[in-house]
Amino acid sequence: MDKLIINGGKRLKGSITVSGSKNASLPICIAAILAPGASAITNVPHLRDITTTAKLLESLGAKVKRHENSMSIDAADINTVEATYDLVKTMRASVLVLGPLLARFGRARVSLPGGCAIGARPIDQHLKGLKALGAEIRLEHGYVEAIAKKGLKGARINFDISTVGGTEHLMMAASIASGMTILENAAREPEIADLANYLNCMGAKIEGAGTDTIRIQGVSDLTPAAFEVMPDRIEAGTFMCAAAITGGDLRIQGMKLEHLDALCFKLQDAGVEITNRNGTVQVKGPRRPQAVNIKTRPYPGFATDMQAQFMALMCIADGASVISENIFENRFMHVSELQRFGADITVEGNSATVKGVKKLSGAPVMATDLRASASLVLAGLAAEGTTEVQRIYHLDRGYEQIETKLAAVGADIRRVPE
Ligand code: EPZ
Repeated sequence: MDKLIINGGKRLKGSITVSGSKNASLPICIAAILAPGASAITNVPHLRDITTTAKLLESLGAKVKRHENSMSIDAADINTVEATYDLVKTMRASVLVLGPLLARFGRARVSLPGGCAIGARPIDQHLKGLKALGAEIRLEHGYVEAIAKKGLKGARINFDISTVGGTEHLMMAASIASGMTILENAAREPEIADLANYLNCMGAKIEGAGTDTIRIQGVSDLTPAAFEVMPDRIEAGTFMCAAAITGGDLRIQGMKLEHLDALCFKLQDAGVEITNRNGTVQVKGPRRPQAVNIKTRPYPGFATDMQAQFMALMCIADGASVISENIFENRFMHVSELQRFGADITVEGNSATVKGVKKLSGAPVMATDLRASASLVLAGLAAEGTTEVQRIYHLDRGYEQIETKLAAVGADIRRVPE
């Protein structure tokens, strides 16, 4: 298992480019199942989760070809409707193949994803929606068996909770159901709108993606399409925090600042200067950030995927900040690792109080999940002395060559194979 060695205290300066979005690429690659023929998806990042998705699609009989950041997915010859536990357990988003397989072939058998480090992450809303579209759902031996002999029929579905995956799952399944489907209390994340744009390029009729009510007029079939994935807003937000925590001055290219309003306001409250010149965002960190409170919320609220990174910044802030995590029940595993840097954090239920310290000191730490590992890298960049981040396979799930990108703007960071 590789690790990262960071000698902290360097101010980051220069320009850094954001890769394609992991959380848009995953559902978009899976949606290619819906159309017989080859879709050409571009701006797909090189990440472990994308490799897993390619393996999953190939296990279903699709032909996948990758060239640099492009991926061709030919789903003409899908020859099985079963996604096994071995594949689904490595990446929860694999469960999203259930709806497209069911919609196109009338049945599907997919392993239940199980929980993960940050929470139980049930899929009850996904299954409730597929049932509303007319599927018969059976849970047995750790698998979901779904059948819709007469095909799926449009329905009105009202989500009990804002769910990104649930909204994406049902948008895909409903795109070739017969009749109109209306998703109410739908999630509004930008990745959902990106998926809807790809589906509409394939001939789907989807309106309202990005709002809390999405209307999908089912069509009889979809055709493969070429599509460019949106930039990764969480990678971009992580780089913004890197500039902030090192008192640096970064030009972040290829990002959409409008996807990060909540983070922007909070960084500005903390004293970070942010300017946007048509797609290039300049981020200047203060000598010492001011303490700011945050509450994670569904989009357009403060993204839960930015909570750990923002907490790292608050560890050196002037004052105390209260960070409440309202999306996942166990997303504070970075706290005990940040405390190894000398951070002063106390956790009560779903809220953490961070009393800023003047300086963090480098330490050996262990990554526990994707965004927690990003927060440890940020802390290492700011800390005095050497930091060693172990188990960075978590990091590789969601960040394309993060150490190369950070080293190019002045970070003293290198990857050491363990
Ligand atoms: C997506 O996960 C993202 N992953 C997550 O990013 C992100 O943290 C999350 O949305 C929230 O923004 C991908 O897009 C691949 P949810 P998802 O369904 O779809 C509960 C990262 O770091 N819920 O919006 O799984 C659930 O337990 C990852 O890139 C139900 O109760 O998230 C959670 O508490 C981590 N029943 C809340 O809703 C359901 O049927 C939000 O989950 C579905 C969800």
